[in-house]
Amino acid sequence: TSNLKTKIIGKQAYYFDSIDSTQNQALKMAQDAANDGTIIVAAKQTGGKGRDGRKWISPKGGIWISIILHPKFDISITTLFPIASSLALSIAIEKVFSIKPELKWPNDLTIKGKKVAGMLVDVSLESNKIEKLVLGVGINFDVDVKKIEKTLNETPNFYGVASLSEQKQNIKPIQLVQTFLLELEKIYKDLNERQIKKIISEWTLRSSTIGKNVELNTIDSKIKGKAIKIDDDGALVVSNNNKNHRIIAGDIIHLSK
Ligand code: BTN
Repeated sequence: TSNLKTKIIGKQAYYFDSIDSTQNQALKMAQDAANDGTIIVAAKQTGGKGRDGRKWISPKGGIWISIILHPKFDISITTLFPIASSLALSIAIEKVFSIKPELKWPNDLTIKGKKVAGMLVDVSLESNKIEKLVLGVGINFDVDVKKIEKTLNETPNFYGVASLSEQKQNIKPIQLVQTFLLELEKIYKDLNERQIKKIISEWTLRSSTIGKNVELNTIDSKIKGKAIKIDDDGALVVSNNNKNHRIIAGDIIHLSK
């Protein structure tokens, strides 16, 4: 981490050759006095976790990282946090690889419609104030796409995997990690300063979701309509029959013009 240009994120770093999940490890460490910005990195995870209790296949070659933060913002913008973090990663990938991954609400990065990275957030609350937050980031840097797709085919809402190695560029994982952490730190600062409009407009410019007809699975229902925008708290606004619906959590299962 000596080459990091960040001020907080990654100043303290723990590396594992193999671990069940960096997220579990970070959550354990966050209970003790882990510093703001501590990162946990693993070459491979044996029990990687995705959103909604799904599996996250994490072989050697990917970037698997969890970041412990002590945010100053309040609970109302926690759902915006992974959205903002995926924006930071899209910017970083563009800087390093000169390709622009699209952002799929809520937290996915895609290349040609296939998932190249995802984000997971766990928060611990203290009387409705965020005490600590753990951001988990999974980046398919150099993974066997076919193999992962085979394993995940049966998973609900699964839609295909991309790997940055398909770009055939000679880039080292550390270059991307450094750039990402720097972008993340900028966006974390923006969030702490409540620069919400700026984040939302930048996210929207990179999004594959806004302006499209979408079909979503939410916890208890399905909804179809046109994705209009995201609200200040990160909720997706979908209109159907001239009525706007705010979706706080869900998965897009279909996207079309
Ligand atoms: C998703 O899109 O479902 C979120 C994927 C998050 C994966 C990362 S990899 C590092 C961290 N450790 C985990 O077990 N999960 C997250």
